Amino acid sequence: MAASGVFLTFEGIDGSGKSTQARLLAETMRARGRDVVLTREPGGSPGAEEIRRLLVEGDPARWSPETEILLFTAARRDHLEKTIQPALAAGRTVISDRFADSTRVYQGVARADLQASVNRLHDLMIGREPDLTFIIDMDPEAALARGLARQSGEDRFEDFGLGFQQALRAGFLALADEYPGRCHLIDGNRPADAVAADIARIAQGLA
Ligand code: ADP
Ligand code: TYD
Repeated sequence: MAASGVFLTFEGIDGSGKSTQARLLAETMRARGRDVVLTREPGGSPGAEEIRRLLVEGDPARWSPETEILLFTAARRDHLEKTIQPALAAGRTVISDRFADSTRVYQGVARADLQASVNRLHDLMIGREPDLTFIIDMDPEAALARGLARQSGEDRFEDFGLGFQQALRAGFLALADEYPGRCHLIDGNRPADAVAADIARIAQGLA
C-alpha cells in the first residue's frame, strides 16, 4: 500500500501567529525525525505563488468575493496537485500555513455570505481536508497591529479594517465548533513558545 503522510494546517486571522507557529511545529517535528514539507496558501507551488500576487496586493475593491473564491480555489488546486499530494504520497508530513478553511471564513463569511458556493467548489475541485487544523484565536486589534507592523506590501486583506477582522474571528470560532474532531482552538494571546508547546503536544499523538 502507498505511504500516506499527515496533513496539518494553521488557520486564524491576519497576524495571529500562524506562520511563526507553522515554522516552530516544522522544527519540532523534524527534531522528532519527521520529513516535513512546510508550505503556505495562497501559494505553495510556482503557479499558485503567481496567483497569490493577484490576491494580496492592490486595492481592497480589486476583486469581488465571488472572483476571490475562484482565484483562491485555482491556487489551491495547483498547490494540491504539485506540492501537497506528491508529498503525502511519499509519506511526508505537510504543514500548511492556511488552506480551505480560510476560504470558508474569509470569502464564505466575512466578505459575503457565500458558504454554500465555497463548499460546493471545494467538493468539486479540492475534496481533501487536513488531518488536523490549529485555529489560532486572538484579539483582532492586537493581531492587526502585529500584521501591519510587518509592512509587507501584502496588506490587501488587512486594509479591510478591524470590523472585518472581528467578523473573521467569529467565523473561525464557528468553524472550530463545526469541525470539532479536526479543529483545535489555540489561545494565541501568549508568548510564542507557550503557544508552540500546546501545539506540539496535540500534534504528538498524530504525527
Ligand atoms: P500570521 O502568519 O498569522 O500573519 P505571524 O506569525 O507572521 O502571523 O506573526 C505576525 C507578527 O507577530 C510577526 O512579526 C511575528 O514575529 C509576531 N508574533 C508571532 N507570534 C507572536 C506571539 N505569540 N507574541 C508576540 N508576537 C508574535
Ligand atoms: P497570508 O499570507 O497567510 O496572510 P497573513 O500572514 O496576514 O495571515 O494570506 C494572505 C491573505 O489572503 C490573508 O489576508 C488571508 C487571505 N486569504 C483569503 O481571503 N482566502 C483564502 O482562501 C486564503 C488562503 C487566504
